[in-house]
Amino acid sequence: MRILVTGATGMLGRALVPALVKAGHQVRALSRTRRESRGNVEWVWGDLFSGHGVPEALAGMDAVAHLATSGRRGRGAADIPGTRRLVLAAREAGVGHLLLTSMVGADRAPVGYLTYKLEAERLVAAGGIGWTVLRSTPFQQWLHRRLRDYASLPVLLVDPTVLMQPVHTGEVAARVAELVGGEPLGTAVEFGGPEVLDHARLARTWCRLHGLRRLCLPMRFPGRLYAAQRAGELTTDATPRGTITWDAYLTPPATARAARHGGADAFPDSDDFASEHTASPTSPATQPELDPDVRVYGGDDGYERPTRG
Ligand SMILES: NC(=O)c1ccc[n+]([C@@H]2O[C@H](COP(=O)([O-])OP(=O)(O)OC[C@H]3O[C@@H](n4cnc5c(N)ncnc54)[C@H](OP(=O)(O)O)[C@@H]3O)[C@@H](O)[C@H]2O)c1
Repeated sequence: MRILVTGATGMLGRALVPALVKAGHQVRALSRTRRESRGNVEWVWGDLFSGHGVPEALAGMDAVAHLATSGRRGRGAADIPGTRRLVLAAREAGVGHLLLTSMVGADRAPVGYLTYKLEAERLVAAGGIGWTVLRSTPFQQWLHRRLRDYASLPVLLVDPTVLMQPVHTGEVAARVAELVGGEPLGTAVEFGGPEVLDHARLARTWCRLHGLRRLCLPMRFPGRLYAAQRAGELTTDATPRGTITWDAYLTPPATARAARHGGADAFPDSDDFASEHTASPTSPATQPELDPDVRVYGGDDGYERPTRG
C-alpha cells in the first residue's frame, strides 16, 4: 500500500515510518521542514495548518496515518483546522482509509489537549471516507522527557493518586501499522501500556534507574485533568496492549547502557530527534543495535533514517 504519514518526524512517527517500510508499504512522509528522500521513504513538504503542500502529499495515496499534532500548547492548530484540511483533501484525492491517532480518555474526559483530540476524532468520523481512530495512553518516551525536565531540581513533586499507563512508542507504531494497512474500522480502538502505575511510583522508579537521589514530595495535583487521571479515565483495559513495562523501557540492554554511561549527557534519549540525527559515532543513529526501539521494530533494515533539514 501507498501510505502518507503526517507527523513523521515526531516521537511516534519516527517509530512508525520504519515499521511501515518493514511491512512492505511505500511510505510518503510529511514535514514542515524540507528533507531529502532516501531509500524507501519519500519526504514531502507540507503544512496542515495553512494547507500548503497537502493535496500534493495525498496524490496517489491509498491510506493516511495522521499523527501530526501541535501538542498541548499549540491550540489545536494541526489537530483541528489541520485535520479538517487533511480530511477534505483526502476525500478529494480518493484516499480509502484515514487513521487518526488520539488519546485514551479523549471521549471520557475532554479537558485541555484532549478537547482538540476529540474534535479531530469527530472531523475524521464525519469526513466521508474510511476511518479508524487509535487512542493510545501516554508514551513512555514522553513521560521520560517530562521527568528529565525536572531532574535538575532537588525535589520532585509527585501525586500517588494520579494513575498512568505509559506505553512504548514502538508498540504503538506496530499497532498503527497493522491498523492502517487493514480495512477501515469506522470506530475508535484503544491501546495502552501493560501496567497502570501511580505517578509517585513512576517518578521514583525513574530516579532509581537513573541513579538519582531526589526527594519525592507527595501532594495532590489540582485541576480537572488530574482528577480524570485519578478516576482512571485516562487508562484502558483494552486488548491487545503493550508488553514493554516502564522498568524494562528504562533498563536498556547492557551494550546500550555502557554506551550511555560513556556519553557526556547524563540522560541521553535515543528518541530525541536532534541527538539522533546530529549523530556522534556512538549515537543510536549510527549504531542501530544500541537503539532500544530496535527490539520492537526490528532495526533499520530497508530504511534510511532521515537527516535533519
Ligand atoms: N506523546 C504522547 O504521549 C501521546 C500519547 C497518546 C497519543 N498521542 C498522539 O500520537 C500522535 C503523535 O504524537 P507525538 O508525541 O509523536 O507528536 P510530536 O512528537 O509532538 O510530533 C508532532 C508532529 O506533528 C507535526 N506537525 C506539527 N504541526 C504540523 C503542521 N502544521 N503541519 C504538518 N505537520 C505538523 C510535526 O512535524 P514537523 O515539525 O516535521 O512539521 C511533528 O512530526 C498525536 O496524534 C498525539 O495526540 C501522543
